[in-house]
Amino acid sequence: MSKFSEVAVLDNFYQTSSFYPMPVVLVTTVSESGLTNIGSYSLCFPFGIAGDHYMMLISRGDSNTSLNLMNSNNHCALNFIPYNKKFLKNAVCLGYPGETTEQKLKDCIFTIEPSMRNDKADGEVYPDVITESIQIFECTYIDDPELFHYANDGGERHFLLKIDHIFMQEKWHKALKKGGKFPGLPVDYGYRDSRHFWFAPHSRPYAEAIPKNKGIDVNSIKYEVQRLPFELEWDEQAYARLVKVPRVFLKRVLTAISERAVKEGVKKITPELLDEYNKKNR
Ligand SMILES: Cc1cc2nc3c(=O)[nH]c(=O)nc-3n(C[C@H](O)[C@H](O)[C@H](O)COP(=O)(O)O)c2cc1C
Repeated sequence: MSKFSEVAVLDNFYQTSSFYPMPVVLVTTVSESGLTNIGSYSLCFPFGIAGDHYMMLISRGDSNTSLNLMNSNNHCALNFIPYNKKFLKNAVCLGYPGETTEQKLKDCIFTIEPSMRNDKADGEVYPDVITESIQIFECTYIDDPELFHYANDGGERHFLLKIDHIFMQEKWHKALKKGGKFPGLPVDYGYRDSRHFWFAPHSRPYAEAIPKNKGIDVNSIKYEVQRLPFELEWDEQAYARLVKVPRVFLKRVLTAISERAVKEGVKKITPELLDEYNKKNR
């Protein structure tokens, strides 16, 4: 006998028909009157991850966030707040449908500060960002049906958001480069009853090693390169040249290649350059 029973797939199935862990993001947008609106969102996920970098935000079509993005200003910021019960209580308050930006601002406990973009266009207004955030994605809504189009009659809107900038608290930026430490981000558990949202803190992540016999894949090399402190461009094909390097030596090999390239004034690591370095090393 199976231990499973079938669950009816209902509207809002991520809340009604399943347990579905999601992030908690406060989305800031600019209202018609120029104020920064704050709305709580969990349906906010990476959508385009290589080459072009996009997030997908799903919102009811008549939310302040949707209306601002469609009608007044196509910029928004995704503010990832830390796990803190006081913050989550306020996020639930800011998630109450039907309130105007002015009404919401009165209840808001978060501190806001101006956008940190260094590419502000003249005359353009950008939403403020939330100071208490661990990280902030400053984005632009791209309304291009050739790139993404989804039509349905459920009153929901799907926003393809180009990630223009990611800003992170210095402490966590360091941890991102060094590894081993993680910020306390909340998990929205998806499940909802009529009276509550349910959140969980994450516990300390543990490391699960990739089996040694799997060798090195191109992505592992990319991640390692991104963590090195060198301003070098890497040709996509170049990573593949290094898959045979034993994992334990990878960082050392990448550092040696990068140091040599910097010393020689090379700006881009190409497969040909790696072949040349390899020949000279033999
Ligand atoms: C934790 C949390 C997550 C939410 N996630 C979403 C979501 O992903 N999409 C959505 O349409 N509404 C979501 N809501 C409800 C919105 O916050 C609500 O519609 C709110 O009115 C949006 O604010 P706005 O009108 O200022 O944009 C969420 C609410 C909470 C508290």
